[in-house]
Amino acid sequence: MSTVVLDKVTKVYPGGFLAVDRVSLKAENGEFLVLLGPSGCGKSTLLRMIAGLEEVTDGDVWFDGKIANLLSPRERDVAMVFQNGALYPHRTVRGNLSFPLEIAKEDPGATRDRVANLSKALHIEETLDRRPGTLSGGQRQRVAMGRAIVRQPKLFLMDEPLSNLDAGMRTELRMEISQLVRSLGVTTIYVTHDQVEALTLADRIAILNRGVLQDVGTPAQIYNDPATAFTAAFLNSQQLNLVSAVVHTPQNNYVLLDMGPHHLILPWSDPRAYATSQYVGKPILLGMRPDGLAPVPESYDGPSVLGRVRALEYHGHEWLAYVECGIPAVPVPEPPDPRAKANGHAAGTGGLRGMVQRMFRSPVDEQVVDQEQVGQNVGSGIHRRSDLIVRLGARPVWRVGDPCKVGVDLSRVMLFTVDGARIDPPRR
Ligand SMILES: Nc1ncnc2c1ncn2[C@@H]1O[C@H](COP(=O)(O)OP(=O)(O)OP(=O)(O)O)[C@@H](O)[C@H]1O
Ligand SMILES: [Mg+2]
Repeated sequence: MSTVVLDKVTKVYPGGFLAVDRVSLKAENGEFLVLLGPSGCGKSTLLRMIAGLEEVTDGDVWFDGKIANLLSPRERDVAMVFQNGALYPHRTVRGNLSFPLEIAKEDPGATRDRVANLSKALHIEETLDRRPGTLSGGQRQRVAMGRAIVRQPKLFLMDEPLSNLDAGMRTELRMEISQLVRSLGVTTIYVTHDQVEALTLADRIAILNRGVLQDVGTPAQIYNDPATAFTAAFLNSQQLNLVSAVVHTPQNNYVLLDMGPHHLILPWSDPRAYATSQYVGKPILLGMRPDGLAPVPESYDGPSVLGRVRALEYHGHEWLAYVECGIPAVPVPEPPDPRAKANGHAAGTGGLRGMVQRMFRSPVDEQVVDQEQVGQNVGSGIHRRSDLIVRLGARPVWRVGDPCKVGVDLSRVMLFTVDGARIDPPRR
């Protein structure tokens, strides 16, 4: 068992590529910490630095209060599982599982028992006398996991161990990993780019983008109260509705969020109202998850927008509606790219601030375009699509072409600056 502290850990690869930029993070003793982020964001690099397989360029890695930068992987007592768990092809499953214990010169009787128990827990007891070449992908990955777990290291490091498996096997093994690792109480750092895996497995999730830590929190904190628009958009099984609004405070009665053809009102009693009023006359971004929007009857007089149902989409367990309501969606602002600077290109956010300001100078009607352009990045780079995606639940209560009213759960509307930072920062 182990506590891992990363203190401004940085990796610059030979040639000058900044892969990880000053990441500070703590994995508590016995915690299941998930590193989540898009491909190339530096997850594997960070994990390999924790394992001692990759040198740290700057910053410190601490294990149990001791600096570990110069310790070899063996001295760190970590076990790592990769995407393609490499097995010894000429050893049986039993031989693969017992190998780490043989190396550690464990008692053969104890080794036999441990391998037997573990193979039962991983549902591979039938395969003990077979060679890896005769196993399915799922079985191979179970053996790889077993080999890492068998000697009970201080720390498990797992790099997308399930990503090569089919969806059913992933779900099954996900549950088993969770149970097994938790029953052992070993600190685990688990890398994935799959948000469902992150939400279901993690005690806490750390989100990385372009080598920079974006947010850290429990799955519920990150989902309900994300620190940035990037995090909100990334941790969303359906697309996040991200739209622009200008802030007004008419006669100081309330805060009005003007989305062009529609508006929402934040009463002063809303805890976000004061922070939002600081942006009066300026554009901000509103993030609305499809499950924070719902069909409401025409008579509903709560926060809502009017529109027309453009399309319905069946997702098995639920229906989504695409509602044309004349509010142009904006692209998710990316945080400034430290790599651009480090690698000799101009850094920047792609000029979103300017883009949003330009948008508000032009009549909203100009933003509504042909169906062919729906969902495309056109012109100034603004997503011209003016649909709101609304979760309907198990029954499609609307029909395509119907006029409709979309109720907005105001408490679930997330408010961001045009650079994507939360206007009412979450407390962690
Ligand atoms: N040995 C290397 N030399 C130079 N650049 C590297 C090296 N290894 C990785 N990189 C770069 O560092 C960045 C981060 O890579 P890393 O493998 O850590 O990403 P990742 O988040 O694990 O991505 P994925 O989800 O695709 O596995 C990438 O742009 C990658 O090309
Ligand atoms: Mg990787």
